[in-house]
Amino acid sequence: MVGEDETAPAGIDITTPHIARIYDYWLGGKDNYESDRNAAEQVMAATPTIKPGVTANRAFLSRAVRFMAGRGITQFLDIGTGIPTADNTHLVAQAVNPDCRVVYVDNDPIVLVHARALLSGVSAPTAFIDADLRDTGLILKGASGLLDLNRPVGLLLIAILHCVPDEDEPGEIVRELMDAFPPGSLLAITHPGIDQLPEQMEAAEKALTKAMGYRVTFRTHEGVSRFFDGFDLLDPGVVPVQDWRPEPGAPPSLTTGMWGGVASKPSLRRG
Ligand SMILES: C[S@@+](CC[C@H](N)C(=O)[O-])C[C@H]1O[C@@H](n2cnc3c(N)ncnc32)[C@H](O)[C@@H]1O
Repeated sequence: MVGEDETAPAGIDITTPHIARIYDYWLGGKDNYESDRNAAEQVMAATPTIKPGVTANRAFLSRAVRFMAGRGITQFLDIGTGIPTADNTHLVAQAVNPDCRVVYVDNDPIVLVHARALLSGVSAPTAFIDADLRDTGLILKGASGLLDLNRPVGLLLIAILHCVPDEDEPGEIVRELMDAFPPGSLLAITHPGIDQLPEQMEAAEKALTKAMGYRVTFRTHEGVSRFFDGFDLLDPGVVPVQDWRPEPGAPPSLTTGMWGGVASKPSLRRG
């Protein structure tokens, strides 16, 4: 349903809920419509931890980008960008090193509208590619316009791999992307965990799948860890996102239902 006073930007279907706008609602953003809010509320009814979960997921993104930039990464590929909010990747990375370059990728037209508006005022080197995560060739070709793929890249797959079902081989997608980058590149993944808060997360998976009309796949710790096979998983491994290198003095967080980890590409790939 569309609210009476809501109008859609040209070419954008706001009658079907979309993951980027649902996520924006959970984060307290304004770039969402009635259909998105209804879907978001249905998931929240099933999973009260969803809001702390997405907030903790964003905080992980910031820490992971700061960590990568601190290890000398100056090039980032952020796939499944989402609608811009606070602490977007280029702001976090360029706060550490103003020379950082960031390529954003998303397949949602509304994210594209916002990203263009956001990036038009940015003097630092950033770009946006309208592409599906499955189309790794298109993504890498587009990214090579701004990034030097012979130098290490920080690949961010933050809360996106659950949008790719097993039959589309998300593990292969991760490997194809990392294969294009040299050793020393870093990979950060977060993913909803079906085995954290199992009852709530099963209900959330069903509610999201029903609301959006396409299947989302929440995975186990083992399933998420497999995305890192062949890479050097950095401490503390795949852990609940709030427990991944928390800021000193950060208050203990609720269980959030999200797994997260960061790995480095070794000189010789294993497996
Ligand atoms: C849950 S949001 C996460 C946003 C951001 N990464 C974060 O964690 O704050 C997922 C994003 O991935 C995008 N997305 C979902 N499936 C995608 C696909 N197959 N290809 C590209 N983007 C996709 C959605 O449009 C949405 O913006």
